Amino acid sequence: MTVRNQNEAFVRRVGILTSGGDAPGMNAAVAAAWSSLAALEIEPVGIAGGFEGLAADARVRADLALVVARRSDPGTWLGTSRWPQLATPEGVDACRAAVERLGLEGLVVIGGNGSAAGARALLDDLPVAFVPATIDRDVAGTALTIGSDSAVAYGVDVVERLRTTGRALAGRAFVVQTLGAPNGYLADAVAEAAGVDHALVPERIADLDAVARHLQDASSHGAVVVMSEAIGDAVSVAAELARLSGLRVHPTILGHAQRAASPTTLDMELATKAGIAAAATLAEGDGAFVGFTAAGRVALTSLASAPLQPQGAS
Ligand code: F6P
Repeated sequence: MTVRNQNEAFVRRVGILTSGGDAPGMNAAVAAAWSSLAALEIEPVGIAGGFEGLAADARVRADLALVVARRSDPGTWLGTSRWPQLATPEGVDACRAAVERLGLEGLVVIGGNGSAAGARALLDDLPVAFVPATIDRDVAGTALTIGSDSAVAYGVDVVERLRTTGRALAGRAFVVQTLGAPNGYLADAVAEAAGVDHALVPERIADLDAVARHLQDASSHGAVVVMSEAIGDAVSVAAELARLSGLRVHPTILGHAQRAASPTTLDMELATKAGIAAAATLAEGDGAFVGFTAAGRVALTSLASAPLQPQGAS
């Protein structure tokens, strides 16, 4: 069956790209969109390297079996980019011209805030389905984003390992630094899920004396503090807490290993549902903001009027 849009024109070719910081689950969204489009007899066109790649006609040829085989890999096999030109008229024009050259009649954009703004900028040219994917969970208009559950799970695993050694060798404490700047969401979520009492985040003023006392009390059973990269670096914070507590305090920086966490079942599920929904709406000739409710259901809203945040790192 070939699907027609409202004007009875065939939707024949749809581009798929990932943009901004990679997020666990992006590959599952790509695989779901790709296979759904193929099932609708619409040609999926993989774009390498995000919007920068689109502007350079960086088309990737891959067969469906390969795309599906990569669905549970972390990162994004399509590649991605942070491309400041996307926020300029010249950058948008370069993408428009590439859309024309590649003969795209729809586009799936999987990424964070900056990517949403880029997706919206192309709406006059073709229908675009935007799928929110960033570990930072900071995209307005959706309760969840693909990737954050995996990044939190990775952080919790590290906390548990530090507790294990902390219990084995008492008298020390640990500071774990998460990604997520400029927000404290990831640090708060890791701390909450791991049962850590103190998270140092930009949204709250921390009482380091109280934190140091807590570490002293907990130093025989694995004392851990979680902090966001947004408030500074774990080496300095550990040194300050060591001075205040008299304990050995070891810093652990999760860094970009957190962003490359293996996708959790939840992120795979969200990504798959969103990829299918993106393909279905584009097959109808419509664009959409493919968001999620807090319960993890797909909620399609207008991308043109989505409450986008100022462009961030995601
Ligand atoms: O993609 C979001 C994010 O991982 C943030 O958590 C982090 O602050 C930022 O990207 C790091 O960006 P970059 O990899 O460009 O240094």
